[in-house]
Amino acid sequence: MKQSRRAFLKNSTLTVAGMGLIHPNSFATPKFSANDKINIGLIGAKNKGFNILSHLMKTGQVNCLGICDVDKNILENRIADVRKEFGQIPKGYGDFRKLLENDEIDAVIIGTPDHWHCLMMVYACQAGKDVYVEKPLANSIAECNVMVDAANKYNSVVQVGQQQRSGEVWNSAMQHIHAGGIGEIKKVNVWANFPYGMGSGKVPDQPVPEELDYAFWQGPAAKRAYNPSHVHGSWRHFWDYGGGLMTDWGVHLLDMALWAKNISHEPRTVLASGANYNMDAYSRETYEVMDVNYPMDDYMIHWSHTAGIQTGPYDKAYGVEFIGDNGVILADRGDWSIRQGDKGESEQATKTAKEGFNFGGKSDMEIHVLDFLHCIRNRNATKCTVEMGRNVALYAHMGNIAVRSGTHMLDWNEVAGSFDGNKAANQFIIPNYDGPWELPKI
Ligand SMILES: NC(=O)c1ccc[n+]([C@@H]2O[C@H](COP(=O)([O-])OP(=O)(O)OC[C@H]3O[C@@H](n4cnc5c(N)ncnc54)[C@H](O)[C@@H]3O)[C@@H](O)[C@H]2O)c1
Repeated sequence: MKQSRRAFLKNSTLTVAGMGLIHPNSFATPKFSANDKINIGLIGAKNKGFNILSHLMKTGQVNCLGICDVDKNILENRIADVRKEFGQIPKGYGDFRKLLENDEIDAVIIGTPDHWHCLMMVYACQAGKDVYVEKPLANSIAECNVMVDAANKYNSVVQVGQQQRSGEVWNSAMQHIHAGGIGEIKKVNVWANFPYGMGSGKVPDQPVPEELDYAFWQGPAAKRAYNPSHVHGSWRHFWDYGGGLMTDWGVHLLDMALWAKNISHEPRTVLASGANYNMDAYSRETYEVMDVNYPMDDYMIHWSHTAGIQTGPYDKAYGVEFIGDNGVILADRGDWSIRQGDKGESEQATKTAKEGFNFGGKSDMEIHVLDFLHCIRNRNATKCTVEMGRNVALYAHMGNIAVRSGTHMLDWNEVAGSFDGNKAANQFIIPNYDGPWELPKI
């Protein structure tokens, strides 16, 4: 039978008395039996957060005990949705710290804008929770570092919301690449062209709507007047809250370019250019067009995005093209195919991959949440660990930093954790938190 978190803390502390404190969430300490339900709390409920919660609820393995949102309308609607769709009545919270005080909650989903991920995840780890945190892991390099330290110090199981790591298509493509199916990879082209990257239409600043706790929405970000074109959903296009297409899609797709060669080291050199051409009608700070090159030890990764359109190479709005010396694999979330010079597209390879990597027809998200629950029960590392989330977030953030700093070429010193002698770029490593919030120290 499952013990309450409070009882577990007490018993664990007794068990290890005199042996040094072992955190109850230790990877080596399973505390659920196979039939125990895992109690979930959701922080940030509008869009992706609720999507994750729904996937978790559909497994039949969880209870939703609490939902937190700073927008009262969203909060009420999502509580009503859980009641209607899943027959449960979670408690509502406006302050995530109160939700974290609930000892019955085992794990939280963080589905807020990126500028909140670090504080929420660190506090959740300190409260003994496991965490499903959305991507990009955080909105700055320093925050990513703190989050890795927190997860490791408090032994929290962390799943980062890069669900492609769990997906059938990507796993089968990787299997083929790792088996040498296209020979040695020389280059990986990655692109993402989406209309939403332009941002919302410009509107004047407005009074804060009654239902929104705007101060708590801004949190550690610099204070600015309320404008609907930079909150719900649209925050992605403002540096204080997100990183535009470069980080929004970059972490999903660049991660595939790293996985192809099992890269876990940080970026070394980053060369980037970016620009904004259409600023009159749109509310945006992040770049409309960008090109970034990451020269790796023995291959090149190339990122490209264009906002405002929805097509690209091979008629695909986004995709990854793995170029090897014996062929090319083209992949997106729906499928992958192989091209081998005058042999044309290899139907045989595609067929083998599809049949040989059968996850039972489950979607990336279904597999990703099941993996999270499995790892909570067994104290295992997830498909997308906090280290993986951090690493690819660094690649994406450095694309933006290279352009924002005006230096366009960065050399990253992995040991020093900074850009050698590049003051203009180094100023972007640590975010300037607005009080009373402080970047956590672990
Ligand atoms: N993995 C994916 O495929 C995927 C897809 C979409 C979004 N995302 C990620 O999910 C996260 C959320 O994106 P979204 O599109 O759902 O954003 P959104 O703006 O639609 O929703 C964010 C929610 O968080 C709430 N919120 C903001 N500050 C809060 C606070 N202090 N406390 C509690 N609630 C707060 C907002 O009121 C809103 O309801 C982002 O990190 C985004 O990058 C991932």
